[in-house]
Amino acid sequence: MRKKACMICLIVILIVCAALVISGCGARQAMPPEDDGSIAASAGGDNLDASGGDETGDEQGKESEDDEALKEPEKSEKPEDTSSKPASEPEDKNAPSKGSDKSIRGIPDAIDVRTEDDGDLLVVVNKYHAVSKNYKPKDLVTIDNKYGTWNNMELKSEAYDAFLKLYKDAKAQGFNLKLCSAMRSYSTQKSLYENAVSTRGREMANIRSAYPGRSEHHTGLAIDVTSASMGWGLSQDFADYPDGEWINDHCHEYGFIIRYPKGKTDITGYDYEPWHLRYVGVDAATYIMENNLTLEEYVGVE
Ligand code: DAL
Ligand code: ZN
Repeated sequence: MRKKACMICLIVILIVCAALVISGCGARQAMPPEDDGSIAASAGGDNLDASGGDETGDEQGKESEDDEALKEPEKSEKPEDTSSKPASEPEDKNAPSKGSDKSIRGIPDAIDVRTEDDGDLLVVVNKYHAVSKNYKPKDLVTIDNKYGTWNNMELKSEAYDAFLKLYKDAKAQGFNLKLCSAMRSYSTQKSLYENAVSTRGREMANIRSAYPGRSEHHTGLAIDVTSASMGWGLSQDFADYPDGEWINDHCHEYGFIIRYPKGKTDITGYDYEPWHLRYVGVDAATYIMENNLTLEEYVGVE
């Protein structure tokens, strides 16, 4: 009889232990997956392809491990940890406005974040379509310093080859061109954007300078062109100078488009930038320029 009671006790203990182990595993499985930060983008905005000003230099290979900007700004989804934060923690002045701002001077939440270069020459990177902090264009080549106002700039090789042809033909017309910006890393873009915010205010910055992760310079397919006649600076007046006019009229023959055309700010999100060319290939560029389209309209995305 005692033996039987002992057996029952043992069985009960085993059942209780098993129940505890099972409930422990269940609790672990119920935890949310780790946020890798790659799809939580929110910031957007521009870098300062200055209008009437300057776009400060591309410092290549200066990638910091700071991916603050691609993280969702603190919003209501994330419960406030009142135990560790002061009640009125000062805002990061370089963070995007809270919440999605789809106005032209705002920063909307990103619809998607591209993490790898798949070779698509029509890739759209804008206020809605982001690239991740570690996005690295393939086939990057270093630009010969004689073509740049900065040393060691980089571009995707196909875009560089196209620029060299454009450069040579421009030279034959008596135009002396240089690149003052090409591929920009996330950290370079971040510095430019922050500088634009501090000098112009966030709203003006947002129509001139892309938020880090939202600049197509990051793709290695965009260039900013300046000339001796512009004193190697950037200005909307470029379009009225013979060299700027020649670029506007002929860039498509080399596969480039004026990416932020006049009168299309509501679509591109940016002011007119006659100096900012985007390589898309000759066929697409010819169609886009001859039909007065933006890349967004041509591809059919927001
Ligand atoms: N100025 C353009 C929009 C850029 O910063 O990429
Ligand atoms: Zn640019």
